[in-house]
Amino acid sequence: MQQTPSTASSTTSSPAPASTAYDYVLDHRPAPDGGAPRRVVLLGSTGSIGTQAIDVADGAPERFRIVALAAGGSNLDLLARQAVHTRAEAVGCAAVDLPTLRRHIGEAAAAAGVTGYDPDLFVGGSAATAVAAWPAADVVLNGITGSIGLEPTLAALAAGHLLALANKESLIVGGELVKRAAAPGQLVPVDSEHSALAQALRSGTYAEVDRLVVTASGGPFRGLKRSDLAHVTPEQALAHPTWKMGRMVTTNSATMVNKALEVIEAHLLFDIPLERIDVVVHPQSIVHSMVQFVDGSTLAQASPPDMRLPIALGMGWPHRVPGAATPCDWTKAAQWTFEPLDEEAFPAVALAKRAAAAGGTGMAVYNAANEEAVDAFHDGLIGFTDIVDTIAAVLEESPDSGPLTLESLLAAETWARGAARARCGR
Ligand SMILES: NC(=O)c1ccc[n+]([C@@H]2O[C@H](COP(=O)([O-])OP(=O)(O)OC[C@H]3O[C@@H](n4cnc5c(N)ncnc54)[C@H](OP(=O)(O)O)[C@@H]3O)[C@@H](O)[C@H]2O)c1
Repeated sequence: MQQTPSTASSTTSSPAPASTAYDYVLDHRPAPDGGAPRRVVLLGSTGSIGTQAIDVADGAPERFRIVALAAGGSNLDLLARQAVHTRAEAVGCAAVDLPTLRRHIGEAAAAAGVTGYDPDLFVGGSAATAVAAWPAADVVLNGITGSIGLEPTLAALAAGHLLALANKESLIVGGELVKRAAAPGQLVPVDSEHSALAQALRSGTYAEVDRLVVTASGGPFRGLKRSDLAHVTPEQALAHPTWKMGRMVTTNSATMVNKALEVIEAHLLFDIPLERIDVVVHPQSIVHSMVQFVDGSTLAQASPPDMRLPIALGMGWPHRVPGAATPCDWTKAAQWTFEPLDEEAFPAVALAKRAAAAGGTGMAVYNAANEEAVDAFHDGLIGFTDIVDTIAAVLEESPDSGPLTLESLLAAETWARGAARARCGR
């Protein structure tokens, strides 16, 4: 969902007045790190989140400097061009060898007329983890897809960097393990719903929060019944009505697995019990989520669907980035609608709440089974409703995994992937 950011001049804030009677609500202090730009490590740089993060950094060079990049390797030319463009000091790539990565970067530099650019290179399965711990950094944006983002998440936290987390899977799969690794305030959400919740939560205390309300667009199959869903195609599942995202997250939006993961993410990020987190379908994707307070007040964060806003806020947290995205146009008539989630057609949310409530490695099994089932669906091996049915069946069979450690999580994941693949005929 690309929209042109407003020009800086229209959004530049006016000079701060001297202290006023409103200081208890309006913070007039200048941004504390208003000097050097924040040094950003970008994981998953070639993806939807990654490329938009580079847009954000390009639009606010006084705020952000990309110092390290990592990607999987399916688009090596783009990674090389990004490296040259940002002059990243470190570049990591999972599926490539060192000479190949060096050659691509060399070619990209030559094409751009750049000489003398010679970044540190990391390759192989742990490349993103090494880049996540790049020492000369302030913030790591994890925009990798899937639970493969877990070890980079843990590495960024161990290095003491602020972690702007788009890769919700690492928090959901890692659960308590990731929470224990994070210092207070070290984990900042990038998912638009959780960014919205974080923004609304700023206006009350923990004890004043009654419920979190996570909005869902409803995806391409909103309004369909379970019987209608049996024969929908991968192409239809990828036609998201409001957001343009990668294949996994788009498919997850169609099955509501994405919303299920987001409910668990909200529970882990904000410590609100699962029974006090609701999902409501809001097809316009303008209200990104809401917090209901104990006095009956509900605060919503609203903006046109554009990930650059939560990406910029995540990288710059707690400070807003002027012109990051286009605001709502309040001069035009608009209608926002809200409807309950059809839990019979879309059982993914209820299933995830049960798996998360059981604790341990339940959500690691849920997520791994889903990732395998989504691939099987796109390979034409299973139908659409089989995706969530596969997760349910794999959860049902999953053995008790004992105490929660990184090893037990990875073992549970490997087991779940095998069980899901066997069910899907892979
Ligand atoms: N896109 C959105 O609007 C959006 C919104 C909210 C949350 N999210 C979340 O953000 C995350 C990323 O989503 P996306 O839509 O940006 O996905 P995407 O477009 O599929 O991009 C995924 C990125 O991860 C990289 N990657 C894959 N394996 C890797 C590895 N082993 N090491 C390093 N990088 C690796 C890919 O690199 P190559 O392609 O080069 O292999 C690519 O750069 C997901 O967790 C998603 O749920 C996305």
